[in-house]
Amino acid sequence: MAPRAAGTVSPAGVVGVVGGGLMGSGIAQAAIVAGLDTRLRELTPELAKDARARVERSLSTAVKREKITPAQRDAALDRLAVTTDLAPIARCDVIIEAVVEDLAVKVALWQELHAQAPPSTIFASNTSSLTITAMAVASGRPDRVVGLHFFNPVPAMPLVEVVRTILTSDDTVDRATALVRQLGKEPIAARDTSGFVVNRLLVPYMLDAIRAVEQGVASVVDIDTGMRLGAGHPMGPLTLLDFVGLDTILRVAEIMFLEYREPRFAPPPLLRQLVTAGRYGRKSGAGFYDYSTDPPRVSALG
Ligand code: CAA
Ligand code: NAD
Repeated sequence: MAPRAAGTVSPAGVVGVVGGGLMGSGIAQAAIVAGLDTRLRELTPELAKDARARVERSLSTAVKREKITPAQRDAALDRLAVTTDLAPIARCDVIIEAVVEDLAVKVALWQELHAQAPPSTIFASNTSSLTITAMAVASGRPDRVVGLHFFNPVPAMPLVEVVRTILTSDDTVDRATALVRQLGKEPIAARDTSGFVVNRLLVPYMLDAIRAVEQGVASVVDIDTGMRLGAGHPMGPLTLLDFVGLDTILRVAEIMFLEYREPRFAPPPLLRQLVTAGRYGRKSGAGFYDYSTDPPRVSALG
């Protein structure tokens, strides 16, 4: 990495983000808006193009809402380098992975990066449900691995869970926590248990909403309206499931059920059916709702 001029170096240095999907593009956006040089890696040139377009669209919406100026948007975009190559990511000071929720994929990525990255580089995982310890042990640098769990949509959600394992060094936790603050987010410290704080409570709630649909408790719309107007949630649970991604929630539920063996984490059959049918929620165009119309209407659920 080229040496940076004294006085211009931010404490976090250059941020690498691996995975430019819903979360990775949001994390990269938060980093560039905070003034950090950021490299985002996607698997193919097409996905890389999509990831950059997602960040550009989101920043343009922020301009329209007068949250940033066009000049601030352009300066932020100048700080973003999108690549399909892992080598520039390995030269970053902090690397945040936001790839698919699959331990084997994440471990393979960390092992490849460990072979190329300086020993001081921090590896941070945005996993929703996997334990950080498993990645730390396999990574080759257990003291430098930490969880940084962001929430969707990243630019709007102020929380990040900072997850330390029994192997994480104090320096790694301090640097990761400082990065969270630099991104303008509020850190909370969580122990390395599957789902950490928020998903341990939120995932059974979302799965229960699917069970309520399965059991005919009420319609999809009425369940959502009930939780919005009766409990003050910004989105009903089925809208939220579509927003998060049903494929991701299925993986998360499978991982948490395997970990805790408690029925509340078991994926309901309807969730599996929707994913098998390719209905991943908003990102695929349909889930519990069909997004081909505005406003979206309830999908056929059999
Ligand atoms: N990208 C960036 N910013 C966005 C956004 C997006 N996709 N959608 C909304 N925003 C911002 C808006 O710019 C606006 O910001 P200001 O208040 O600063 O102006 C703010 O969010 C509110 O937006 P709107 O008024 O347009 O819309 P809203 O009031 O309907 O809020 C929402 C949108 C923030 C998404 C809100 O519906 C919400 O909080 N929903 C729940 C989200 C949630 O629970 N996320 C957690 C999911 S679980 C998870 O992430 C963990 C996991 O591991 C699965
Ligand atoms: P997404 O489906 O939007 O993106 C998945 C990303 O993984 C894409 O960049 C894709 O190219 C990449 N990918 C897929 N297969 C891969 C492979 N074999 N090797 C390398 N990369 C691969 O998913 P997302 O919602 O952005 O989730 C990414 C991570 O963030 C997951 O660990 C998820 O649990 C976590 N997370 C998701 C949310 C959410 O609300 N969706 C919230 C917090 C954390």
